[in-house]
Amino acid sequence: MASLLFTSLALLQIIMAVVLDLVKPAISVPLKIGFYQTACPSAETMVRNTVTKALAADPAMAAALIRLHFHDCFVRGCEASILLDSKPGIPAEKESTMNKGVQGFEVIDEAKAAIEAQCPNTVSCADIIAFAARDSVFGAGGLLYAVPGGRRDGLASLIDEAAENLPGAFFNSTELRGNFARKGLSMEEMVTLSGAHSIGDSHCSAFSKRLYSFSARFPQDPSMDAAYAETLKSKCPRPRNLTDSVDPVVAFDPSTPALLDNNYYKNLVSHRGLLASDQELWSSGLTRKMVKYNRNHPGAWASKFAAAMVKMGSIDVMVGRNGEIRNNCRDVN
Ligand code: HEM
Ligand SMILES: *[C@@H]1O[C@H](CO)[C@@H](O)[C@H](O)[C@H]1NC(C)=O
Ligand SMILES: *[C@@H]1O[C@H](CO)[C@@H](O)[C@H](O)[C@H]1NC(C)=O
Repeated sequence: MASLLFTSLALLQIIMAVVLDLVKPAISVPLKIGFYQTACPSAETMVRNTVTKALAADPAMAAALIRLHFHDCFVRGCEASILLDSKPGIPAEKESTMNKGVQGFEVIDEAKAAIEAQCPNTVSCADIIAFAARDSVFGAGGLLYAVPGGRRDGLASLIDEAAENLPGAFFNSTELRGNFARKGLSMEEMVTLSGAHSIGDSHCSAFSKRLYSFSARFPQDPSMDAAYAETLKSKCPRPRNLTDSVDPVVAFDPSTPALLDNNYYKNLVSHRGLLASDQELWSSGLTRKMVKYNRNHPGAWASKFAAAMVKMGSIDVMVGRNGEIRNNCRDVN
């Protein structure tokens, strides 16, 4: 027991050291670890308590909150535009089909309410998302890392910008690389972050073309394991039978669906990637070596994942006097 504790503490220290080391040169904006230490010392604790409670009630919330952070950061930067509700005549990002299944808004609202009661007008919704994603990574994978704060909240959210900025489920490796490069993330970081698809689930509509109507030559995607395809077919109707109300969800990683680990890469090697964009990381010569490495080195993947999450959390952030601190995460002040 003592040695187990020591091992995990040692591992934690290594991870923290790696992350802190990577944070310094990677971030050119004045986000700061412990940003609320003076203005609202318990801000991060309040987020953590809210997330811990939410995960206890529904472990699937971990995946939802991690995806929420990703979808926030890739559209207008990490400034909480994904939280804004539509205005009359101006549909918001959250209405985009790219954001189908995005959840977790209530958890953010709850954390924000707890924080506002103690420190009004102080903590941004964008920081709350970033902290909640970090706490979700801890909840689902036991990986602990520091996330700098200081993001401010944006003033606009436009439906079309989601599809213009988020990667598609049928992107090839060149397209994936380009999409992440536009956000300042490397191909290595793209492969590392895709490991988030070791938890959570996907609607059939995101991949059922692979099962029934892949191409003229191959009705079924030849890069998918045949037995896995059969299992998926038993859960997913044909694309033409899918409707908004009939669109089941399937786990990304059927063996450990709620555990954030490197099993994602093992699945890719055995042709059990769920999305075309997942399997592509193994099919493509650009990324296959990285998949193999992450499959074989769970600890290295975990510390790269933590560092890449921190970097993703710094994309196009608003700081200083830009943006605002929203009172209500769903509406601008
Ligand atoms: C590499 C390009 C990526 C593509 C094409 C992609 C696409 C998708 C799609 C289509 C879904 C299923 C949505 C649904 O139908 O419900 C999904 C779910 C998810 N994505 Fe990604 N994603 C990518 C990268 C990422 C990254 C970088 C992260 C986070 C670091 C992430 C985290 C997640 C999580 C956790 C889920 C499960 C959500 C839940 O169960 O609530 N994805 N993604
Ligand atoms: C990837 O997709 C783009 C855009 O559709 C296409 O131009 C390119 O040839 C594809 N690359 C590969 C390697 O298939
Ligand atoms: C799709 O719908 C057709 C007609 O309603 C039905 O015969 C068929 O079994 C359905 N296929 C799947 C895979 O759900």
